[in-house]
Amino acid sequence: MNKIILLKNRPTGKPTLKDFEFTEEEEPKAKEGELLLKTKYVSVDPYLRGRMRDAKSYIEPFKVGEPLESGIIAEVIESNNKNFKKGEFVNGMLQWKQFQTSNGTGLNKVDRDKAPLKAYLGVLGLTGITAYLGLDKIGKLQKGETLLVSGAAGAVGSVVGQIGKIKGCTVVGIAGSEEKIDRIQEKFGFDGAINYKSTEDMGNAIKEACPDGVDVYFDNVGGEILDAALANMNKYGRVINCGAISLYNETKTPMGPRVETTLIQKSVLMQGFTVRDFVKDFGPAQKQLAKWMEEDKISYLETVVEGFNNIPQAFIDLFDGKNKGKMIVVV
Ligand SMILES: NC(=O)c1ccc[n+]([C@@H]2O[C@H](COP(=O)([O-])OP(=O)(O)OC[C@H]3O[C@@H](n4cnc5c(N)ncnc54)[C@H](OP(=O)(O)O)[C@@H]3O)[C@@H](O)[C@H]2O)c1
Repeated sequence: MNKIILLKNRPTGKPTLKDFEFTEEEEPKAKEGELLLKTKYVSVDPYLRGRMRDAKSYIEPFKVGEPLESGIIAEVIESNNKNFKKGEFVNGMLQWKQFQTSNGTGLNKVDRDKAPLKAYLGVLGLTGITAYLGLDKIGKLQKGETLLVSGAAGAVGSVVGQIGKIKGCTVVGIAGSEEKIDRIQEKFGFDGAINYKSTEDMGNAIKEACPDGVDVYFDNVGGEILDAALANMNKYGRVINCGAISLYNETKTPMGPRVETTLIQKSVLMQGFTVRDFVKDFGPAQKQLAKWMEEDKISYLETVVEGFNNIPQAFIDLFDGKNKGKMIVVV
């Protein structure tokens, strides 16, 4: 039998295991033109929380009673499609099933001789590409500037900080534990770091950690940390709204300070994006990230959870900061 995970309820607040249903179906068979895929590595990501709401967004919501999906690396175990061979590995948006069929649309082959397969869900996948293109297209980061990044020990944030160092910037990270702030300084070369969970006055902590002010703020969390960063922006600063995880489980969006006078007085640009806005740049971005990896200029952390049944818990754990680097489930 084939294990699958369905959305049972739309969560209220932080998701719990009760919002997921574990079930089984008959193992599928590949028809003419199709592949049979075996799930190997599953990416769990904060944005999936948004897809659990019944709300219009840039991507379709999940349907109650249907399988969830996310970025998955799968092995082709049978192929009736001339474009794929048995034994190859593919990366794509696939369902939370142990086995599934596909006609190959939207799947990219990944080469395990070039990089570990898991890296295609992290630094060489949408995570790394988000960091690279957010910084490049919106941040327009220049040598010598001060870059502040939140969610700094996470999948996107840790790549952002390392790119900042490659570009010759002063980089300060914000993360949620002493271990994480030590790690980003020791392993990734961040110049400074703030533990937001043990800091009462974030505005002041950022001021102290960034004595020349902040030129570019890469925001992965939103909320009060964004408010504190905004108060420390330099003239012509750029705020990149990549994520707002601190708000994803809120039932009512909390009200923050009005930002317009800060933006006007300091000529600050604040821009949101989803990585798919820059689809045509994915190839060059991935190539550059792979080159930096080969040159040992970029490294990465992963939190690897084992077992298909643990996919929902690994997802929930993102909201408690249990991951360092990319959260991945090995099936
Ligand atoms: N715009 C795009 O296209 C795009 C693409 C990918 C990701 N994103 C966004 O980028 C952000 C990071 O994604 P990721 O995949 O790299 O996840 P991640 O940072 O690897 O994991 C999430 C981290 O968020 C932190 N966190 C959780 N709740 C928080 C809260 N209430 N306040 C502050 N921090 C909190 C936790 O770290 P601590 O221990 O430090 O709290 C946790 O480890 C997310 O907001 C995601 O939605 C956007």
